[in-house]
Amino acid sequence: MCGIVGIVQRDSTKIGKNIIDSLRKLEYRGYDSVGIATIDNDQVVVSKEQGKITEVIDKMQLDDLHGKIAIGHTRWATHGPPSKENSHPHTDCKNEIAVIHNGIIENFQSLKEELVSQGHEFQSETDTELIPHLIEQLMQEKQMNLKDAIIHTARKLEGTFAICVLSSLEPDRIYCAKRDSPLVLGINADRMFCASDIPAFLSHTQQVVLLHDEEFVTLSHDGYEIINFRDMKKVNRKPYIVSWKPEMAQKGGFPHFMLKEIHEQPSSLADYIRIKQPSLNKIAEKIYDAKKVFLLAAGTAHYSTLTGENLIRKYAKKACSAIIASEYDSVSPLIDEETIVLPVSQSGETMDTIMAIKDAKKLGAKVLSAVNVIGSSITRHSDEVLYLYAGPEIGVAATKTYTAQTLSMWDIGLEIGKISGELGNNEYNEARRLFNEIPSVVKQTIVRSEALTNRIASWFAKKSSSFYLGRGVNLQTAKEGALKMKEIAYIHSEAYPAGESKHGPIALIEEDYPVVFIAPEDQTHKRMIGSIMEMKTRGATTIGVIEEGDKEIGELVKWKIEIPKGYSEMITTIPYVVPLQLLAYYTAVRKNLSPDMPRNLSKSVTVL
Ligand code: F6R
Repeated sequence: MCGIVGIVQRDSTKIGKNIIDSLRKLEYRGYDSVGIATIDNDQVVVSKEQGKITEVIDKMQLDDLHGKIAIGHTRWATHGPPSKENSHPHTDCKNEIAVIHNGIIENFQSLKEELVSQGHEFQSETDTELIPHLIEQLMQEKQMNLKDAIIHTARKLEGTFAICVLSSLEPDRIYCAKRDSPLVLGINADRMFCASDIPAFLSHTQQVVLLHDEEFVTLSHDGYEIINFRDMKKVNRKPYIVSWKPEMAQKGGFPHFMLKEIHEQPSSLADYIRIKQPSLNKIAEKIYDAKKVFLLAAGTAHYSTLTGENLIRKYAKKACSAIIASEYDSVSPLIDEETIVLPVSQSGETMDTIMAIKDAKKLGAKVLSAVNVIGSSITRHSDEVLYLYAGPEIGVAATKTYTAQTLSMWDIGLEIGKISGELGNNEYNEARRLFNEIPSVVKQTIVRSEALTNRIASWFAKKSSSFYLGRGVNLQTAKEGALKMKEIAYIHSEAYPAGESKHGPIALIEEDYPVVFIAPEDQTHKRMIGSIMEMKTRGATTIGVIEEGDKEIGELVKWKIEIPKGYSEMITTIPYVVPLQLLAYYTAVRKNLSPDMPRNLSKSVTVL
């Protein structure tokens, strides 16, 4: 939620363009408004406007801004609706200090009231605006210099923040501080960056410094200095080289990031399989030895944990539950030293998930995670991490990271099956053989289903409501497919256990109502036929995601989308979701919607 970036560069050309280039890579974090602060002729100059970058760039002439230093922000509104006034950067009364912020200041009301009583005038409804005023107040009242005033401000703030401060009082540097919201540095001889995420500077440098909570940074041409803003101790942290390539954060010839990321799945899944991680065995052993296991995640990531839940129950023969992270409180009383919590997350920054694992840790639980972004907050709270190696995902709707998350669940599940003996040697080896084939199955699935899903999309796009039905492990596939359709094509889509649909939801079925069935040839097959018949009889138009050559269901449904043979139960949750990603994508495109930037959403949900 909200993307922030700061640049300090040696030459003074095109700083506006440079900030905009970086902000474009962060727009997945929010796109309600955009704003930049630079220093020109010793003055802070702020340009900001409501709207996406492409909508406001010409109007504001952002590309033309010059200077050696700038901060920029792309907003996902929390405090105050999207508007020019509520856009960042925000400044103090004298317009000497400009601040951008990602996070939520919980004590903003009381701090703001105090500042208003001291004579500060506020222009916006945001929590952020109090920050420049508080810095200004501390400088006036306590005679602090800018750096000390920012440090004191950071200490006073409750809640979450990554902030970047630029000031005409010290025009050669940016100060930053963070707690619980992401912030990284990009190190380049000519240009130094601070940003919410690595893609913001990936085309300039792969040298990254990760910042931890309660850290304060001074960023200038000469380098960076990190201190802990609580104990004021200096932190020596060298950059590491990130393996992500610059082109990974570009569209590479695809019209949208989402389509590119769907097509990247064969290679992202192959990367995950190729990179052997020592943490895998440790995680499997610890889960097998634990008394209780809770998988914690939000949204799409939660659906992937349903695979984990199934497999841990099956192979470790132990009570295990996949919990929606924001509903964690209901299991908190069960957490103790004998509990494992397993958070799964693309960003590693989802606040609901972070808060849940922080509480679980306090209660003595071990944290074993599966995360895509290396060095993100969740990884730092974890005892062991299994990385997803899916590369940067820019499209707001998760696609390649969902299949990577699900694959990691299978990976852990198979290891537990081996340890517990539930999978004998031969069964384990056969399962691993199929596991290794997943990238090629996904590739074939994309090739076979893309044109067909595009055709179905032209009909689906006219609909306002639909059902996605599955059974067993593929109930999660139905849930993920329905979520994709909802979030990018804005068509109400409800996923239901196929068998349960007759207990109420079937009342909604009328002529030509869309019902998508996820129906591999596994033990659920016969019963799925029953469910399809029930829906067809009542006029539904049926779409089946089925196994290649499945005549029985193939002849029943109006549209059949075939998945290569031989993967019933074992890992069907990965290839069977792919046509549903494509169907949602093409439906959004048919409706002239932007699949990469769906309304009201942000990729990284860093608020509770
Ligand atoms: C949906 C989507 C979200 C995320 C959820 C968790 O397409 O992307 O539902 O899955 O916000 O995010 P992470 O995985 O970053 O914790």
